[in-house]
Amino acid sequence: SADQKLIRESWEKVNSSPIEHGLVLFTRLFDLDPDLLPLFQYNCRKFSTPQECLSSPEFLEHIRKVMLVIDAAVTHLENLQCLEEYLANLGKKHQAVGVKVESFSAVGESLLYMLEKCHGPAFNVNVREAWTKLYSIVVKAMSCGWDV
Ligand code: HEM
Repeated sequence: SADQKLIRESWEKVNSSPIEHGLVLFTRLFDLDPDLLPLFQYNCRKFSTPQECLSSPEFLEHIRKVMLVIDAAVTHLENLQCLEEYLANLGKKHQAVGVKVESFSAVGESLLYMLEKCHGPAFNVNVREAWTKLYSIVVKAMSCGWDV
């Protein structure tokens, strides 16, 4: 569909340097919600600043993982159902590390922010709408993993 074409085309540029763009996304996320910082702990150590987190190898690895999940969604646009079980399980893992479903709205805003930074005015209302829809499908699938 037209939406799928917009998504694929806009993802290509982002995915050519995923870590760089993931850093834009998470820098924005910590600006929007600094309380997410303490959820990232490696070897039980908390980061004292977003900068410290954003430069740690383990966190850069998380960025790589996030970008791979988005890439999988972009690859499976016509058949997102095949990711449902994986995403529900991923949601479960995030609940276990203390993430709230509500926090995924700030993640969505940060994703759109990163895409806009990457594409400038080419990131028009149609592209934004297409990404908003895709992201809401991903979040819906992940939220199936949360026990209430
Ligand atoms: C794992 C936190 C958003 C994908 C993790 C881990 C933490 C974490 C603490 C375990 C440590 C690690 O693997 O680095 C968060 C927080 C988020 C967030 C606080 C935002 C509120 C996302 C998003 C995605 C994602 C949006 C993808 C759409 C992953 C993946 C793993 C992971 C693939 C590895 C799971 C595994 O080990 O099987 N996350 N995450 N995360 N996260 Fe996130």
